[in-house]
Amino acid sequence: MAKVAVLGYGTIGAGVVKVLEGNAEAIEKRAKERIEVKRILDLRDFPDDPHGHMVTHNFDDIAGDEEIDVVVECMGGIEPAYHFVKASLLAGKSVVTSNKELVAKRGAELISIAADKKSNFLFGASVGGGIPIIRPILACLSADVLYSIKGILNGTTNFMLSAMEERGWTFERALKKAQDLGYAERNPEADVEGFDACRKIAILTSLALEHQVDFEDVETEGISSITTEDIRYALKLHRTIRLLAISIMKDGKNYAMVSPFMIDETSPLASVRDVFNAILVHGNMSDDIMFYGKGAGSLPTASAVCADVVDCVRSKGHHKEIPWNPQKAELSDNGGFARKFFVRLENEVTEEEISQAFGQVDYVDLEDEDLVEKAFVTGIMTEKDFKAAVAKTGRLINRIRLD
Ligand code: HSE
Repeated sequence: MAKVAVLGYGTIGAGVVKVLEGNAEAIEKRAKERIEVKRILDLRDFPDDPHGHMVTHNFDDIAGDEEIDVVVECMGGIEPAYHFVKASLLAGKSVVTSNKELVAKRGAELISIAADKKSNFLFGASVGGGIPIIRPILACLSADVLYSIKGILNGTTNFMLSAMEERGWTFERALKKAQDLGYAERNPEADVEGFDACRKIAILTSLALEHQVDFEDVETEGISSITTEDIRYALKLHRTIRLLAISIMKDGKNYAMVSPFMIDETSPLASVRDVFNAILVHGNMSDDIMFYGKGAGSLPTASAVCADVVDCVRSKGHHKEIPWNPQKAELSDNGGFARKFFVRLENEVTEEEISQAFGQVDYVDLEDEDLVEKAFVTGIMTEKDFKAAVAKTGRLINRIRLD
């Protein structure tokens, strides 16, 4: 019998308990022994919950309990999660987490403690919720050189953009619903401003490069500037707006970015709606591979967490190597990247000024007399030249990258 402690009894923690109990028999067969939750750490009491008697407010009840083999961290944030995870590993336990902030910041260090202790630190649920993406990158694609990873990595913003486009919801209404459904982070700014997707692409890029990529180095822009007008323009252009996290590894250089993009309706990423995530990986041998599934929510994420718990139980006493060197991989400046841009300028800017700054552009008109402005798509230009063109005309309403 393997015993588990769960840190944090919120959306994911409660889901983990549900999955371990609901699928106990199937899990026992695969783990080759019964897995049971023994303790739950939370600040709150849960007197009406059937697991209320397992709740402790004292982490020492877990760290000092030799019967507990695996600690599952679902608290989120860096502290006190880091302190508890490190102490659990130092006490010889394996740790499983869904906490992308912790993994992005401290992953390399925690893996190396687990290696010293011949235990495991697994984090399959930290990227893509229920989608298996970490293990495929580490194991199934280990014979490939990865050239790019491009993904919709945040369920909340994808849900919001889909609802704004398909149901005409306002930004605020869509965010409220995503929070009610348990998709959003405690502070939804992490979703909306792209920080959550940024941490996830930093983790994937660290694994692809086998070196630390600091999420602070990833140029990041969220969806808070996206309006219903932008979405109407996108539809007119046969495109859809999605928050993409992109990592490109080319000619010894590494580029990464999180930003809203207008993507063509024929792109495989355009059909990713609602809380679904998708990650398109391009390897030099395997070419394009797409991973697709629910990127947030209690049970899909808990399923990925529990798969790691099974792995830890099966590999008791044996450390599964995860190559992640703490030495930093440098990211290159994105200024040289070239693409088209969708631009909205105040009507005062003349067409002559626009062509002087941006070169030849294609205008797009929503035929709405209340919307007096100039909107267009540029030709392919570098990020650097684009910024210079915008500085030249001024009067920018919004701009969105095209992919
Ligand atoms: N807030 C995150 C999202 C949860 O919406 O994708 C899963 O990491």
